[in-house]
Amino acid sequence: MHLFVTGGAGFIGSAFIRLALAEDPTCRITNFDALTYAGNLDNLKGVDPQRHRFLRGDITDRHAVTAALEVPADVIVNFAAESHVDRSIQCSDTFLRTNILGTQVLLDAARLKGIQRFIQISTDEVLGSLPEDADVLSTEDAAYAPNNPYAASKAAAEHLVRAAQRTFGLDAVITRCGNNFGPCQFPEKLIPLILSNAILDQPIPVYGDGRQVRDWIYVDDHCRAILRALAAGTAGEIYHIGARNERQNLDVVAAILKALGKPESLIRFVTDRPGHDRRYALDPTKIERDLGWRACETWESGLLKTIRWYNDNGNWLARARSGSYREYYDRQYGGTTETSS
Ligand code: NAD
Ligand code: TYD
Repeated sequence: MHLFVTGGAGFIGSAFIRLALAEDPTCRITNFDALTYAGNLDNLKGVDPQRHRFLRGDITDRHAVTAALEVPADVIVNFAAESHVDRSIQCSDTFLRTNILGTQVLLDAARLKGIQRFIQISTDEVLGSLPEDADVLSTEDAAYAPNNPYAASKAAAEHLVRAAQRTFGLDAVITRCGNNFGPCQFPEKLIPLILSNAILDQPIPVYGDGRQVRDWIYVDDHCRAILRALAAGTAGEIYHIGARNERQNLDVVAAILKALGKPESLIRFVTDRPGHDRRYALDPTKIERDLGWRACETWESGLLKTIRWYNDNGNWLARARSGSYREYYDRQYGGTTETSS
């Protein structure tokens, strides 16, 4: 099995590559990644170079994608994306290019090269916000309702995948997941941001009242579910991947501060994110029932692994927080007003 993985130097893509190679000794991977600010080859340290070929390239570059697929691949797994909501609010250009145009380039290449299966890695955000007070979960047939440019670009990508399947008969599967956490996540996202700021005794910005709910999953559980969808998913289907682990942001912050022995006085309530979705929660019944997948990690065991990794990888963190991260951080948090929530 030869997998063509895009975005494999990022957080989830690199975890997927480690897992796919470990689970199947016959698996070989081409990892096609532009190495944006979020891509980091250190995430792939220790991966067998005999079975992992790294190619630096941009998924919006049709020629580069076609050339990379000269070595025949069986499956494309598309992780490559601009992935951070706050950056998409600052400027959406790269989101539209990579997440929409890039997906179409890959779909065209998949068709022309006779790829057997296309897996699109998507997100609960395409469905927008759920009510907080009702015990409802999002199922695969819920209506699209993206509320920020990142979510809208990922919804557009899903439409293109569906169109390629319906129009050209491409074998495509879409997986949607909630908020991942684990090693190697860039510290712009909530959990590594809390961890890296708390380790350095720096303030932790909490948007609005901090009562927004996210559905957290340990990254390896997400990757195991993708492998199941790849091997046994039905073409044209969408699968929701969730660990039934809803948490309010403030509870996530408190749990991490407690585990690190840091005071809650580090918390700063700041101006809310515009268009901030209150609650995401996916119903994983279909993937549990049809593909026999279940999350293995609990919130506690996953968090412990994650905290250990960030504690043990100070150099990785220092590198991620250097350079353009400082500019981003100042742009994102410099002008925010502290509130009293
Ligand atoms: P990430 O930002 O950590 O990594 C993205 C990777 O894509 C990086 O290695 C980057 O260099 C690469 N990339 C960006 N633009 C590219 C381009 N034009 N061409 C080639 N490579 C490019 O993202 P992540 O958190 O690992 O997310 C991976 C995928 O999973 C994304 O599609 C995202 O929408 C989806 N997803 C993420 C989460 C989450 O909680 N992080 C949840 C659900 C779905
Ligand atoms: P994030 O990790 O950006 O993921 P997403 O927006 O895809 O859910 O944010 C998770 C939650 O944490 C979300 O409700 C926004 C909130 N948040 C903060 O309160 N402060 C922050 O500094 C960040 C980055 C996020």
